Amino acid sequence: MNEKLIVVVGAAGRLGRLIVQALLSDRSVRVRALVRDPKKPEAASLADERVELRAFDAATATDAERDLAVKGAYTIVSTLQGGPEIIIDAQLALARAAMRGGVRRFIASAFSYDLFAMAPGVNVNTDWRRTFAERAKAEVGDSVEVVHVMQGIFTDKFVLGFLGLLDASKGVLRYWGDGETPIDWTSWEDTARFTAAAALDERAVPERFYVAGDKMDVRTFAATFAAVRGTTLSLESLGSIDELRAETERRLAAEPHNMYAWLPLMYARGVFEGHALLGPTLNARYPEIQAETVAQCIARGAV
Ligand SMILES: NC(=O)c1ccc[n+]([C@@H]2O[C@H](COP(=O)([O-])OP(=O)(O)OC[C@H]3O[C@@H](n4cnc5c(N)ncnc54)[C@H](OP(=O)(O)O)[C@@H]3O)[C@@H](O)[C@H]2O)c1
Repeated sequence: MNEKLIVVVGAAGRLGRLIVQALLSDRSVRVRALVRDPKKPEAASLADERVELRAFDAATATDAERDLAVKGAYTIVSTLQGGPEIIIDAQLALARAAMRGGVRRFIASAFSYDLFAMAPGVNVNTDWRRTFAERAKAEVGDSVEVVHVMQGIFTDKFVLGFLGLLDASKGVLRYWGDGETPIDWTSWEDTARFTAAAALDERAVPERFYVAGDKMDVRTFAATFAAVRGTTLSLESLGSIDELRAETERRLAAEPHNMYAWLPLMYARGVFEGHALLGPTLNARYPEIQAETVAQCIARGAV
């Protein structure tokens, strides 16, 4: 395989760092890690002779700075987090720079359940990602492969905590609906490995890049936890799907500027309504990656 330069934007973030690590496991890869502050400890931890650390603010960069930042790249991987000015505007500006620079592929910051299957208005974060996808396809899609990695939710105690589902100290697993809606689960590390594989792939990569470690509902999740750990997680219903929708609306109206009040519920709708399950996965295309099951993630303490 020829030497490839992969540009990672948001490289100091949690997923960004794992993607850089996964990319470096291929000895022929060089990485340009774009970070806002190269001095922050998370950025410093990326130091490697094959990593070029570069200061870059995706929101304020000029087009000339963007062109320089992506120069020579085979693929750009974005793990940016933020509002519409980042997810739509800054990513679109980078995708245009990719087109000007002859970059083959732009992997956007999706990393979610199937954002194309969600109705508008259910989750603002998903809406921004879908708007980016539509606009990027229209603007640069003829010359750049724009790819959205979708892997369900991360099999991780902090993500489950953010969603208000797992209370590890009390041994409680909460859910909306009947607890029998299937959910797609993938570890952070496998998501990073699949993303690195997509970034380096010499074949055409599909726009909707579905990969997964496992699929199971919360009841099976709790039973798996008990079987692996020998500890029972008690299941607690938070209400019906209709009640979840009503509670999301209520919190949004009460505290529109406090996203922590309502964003977890918007994600819960994506998880428990069952509309955003992944399409056929591409796991078999990358046989070198044996994605961890939920049981394996629980066994190593990720949950
Ligand atoms: N499906 C799931 O269960 C799940 C769970 C969590 C996350 N995710 C997704 O995974 C992706 C990555 O999330 P993460 O948790 O790794 O996020 P994160 O740790 O917050 O990292 C995001 C990175 O974006 C960078 N960034 C933000 N604004 C920037 C700007 N203007 N210029 C340059 N860099 C900027 C941040 O830089 P600084 O370091 O300078 O702040 C940060 O390093 C997101 O798409 C997120 O939605 C999915």
